[in-house]
Amino acid sequence: MISTIISGFAPARNPIADERLANRRRAKPDRSILVRIKRCDGPGKPSRWEEFKVTVTTGSNVISVLQSIAANPVTTSNQRTTPIVYDSGCLEEVCGSCTMVINGMARQSCSCLLDDYAPAEGDIITLEPMSKFPVVRDLWVDRERMFHNLKRVKAWVPIDGTYDLGAGPKETPASQEQHYTLATCMTCGCCLEACPQFNLEENKADWDTAFIGASTIGQVQLFNQHETGKQLKNDRLEVLMGPGGVSDCGNAQNCVKVCPKHIPLTEAIAAMGRAVVIRSVAKFFRG
Ligand code: SF4
Ligand code: SF4
Ligand code: FES
Repeated sequence: MISTIISGFAPARNPIADERLANRRRAKPDRSILVRIKRCDGPGKPSRWEEFKVTVTTGSNVISVLQSIAANPVTTSNQRTTPIVYDSGCLEEVCGSCTMVINGMARQSCSCLLDDYAPAEGDIITLEPMSKFPVVRDLWVDRERMFHNLKRVKAWVPIDGTYDLGAGPKETPASQEQHYTLATCMTCGCCLEACPQFNLEENKADWDTAFIGASTIGQVQLFNQHETGKQLKNDRLEVLMGPGGVSDCGNAQNCVKVCPKHIPLTEAIAAMGRAVVIRSVAKFFRG
């Protein structure tokens, strides 16, 4: 906000955010809503829809709705069913584990307020598991591929912890700010769910050749800019130069629009694209 005032530019209007804010202002304090949930009993099992009527109050989030259903798992057709299975951890939009598709868009269920989505009596909200990861059960998906990709690009700082390394390298406030933003990635998967180039790959053998995705490319930029992390810079770029690397990005720019941490993913993709070209040229002339 301060930088906006200083630079004199008004922030771009976001019609979706505006609509949610308007909904929040008119939300009824106590109301019954209809929750449609796509359920699946396990890997390879068919999915089905179940509907629940749930009473919500001001400030209820999607996790609290799932907890109310667990306390009384009875559908609108009066069928007793099982509680909904979902993943969660921090409950404050930091761990990314509770990500699911809410009314057609991936986001964290812990920070999703019903006031924004279902402000009136009888409103409907739809919950589905992310489609780019294998379903474990109901709304819980297995995001292992994201962590596999982070290991492939060595998304860490290599340090020897057996002796005192002294003070770390100095960083300017500007670079610190940029690195901090990249470091807020919570491996939630929203950017991959929105990406037309990133597809569900259930066979692990295909993970190393399928598109690596925007979040991992962002982490390559973060660690390649780190004064100590850049020791592994070329190893990381080699992965981005290979099959499924940065050149597989189709520049649809969906990723940057949905990232809940506002990470400048398309800038990271462009920067790593340039780094890959420079490395390729350098390798060519070195023979
Ligand atoms: S810009 Fe690239 S990574 Fe982002 S959504 Fe488009 S294809 Fe996917
Ligand atoms: S880059 Fe953003 S959307 Fe993608 S995994 Fe990280 S936090 Fe989630
Ligand atoms: S539970 Fe950690 S982000 Fe929602």
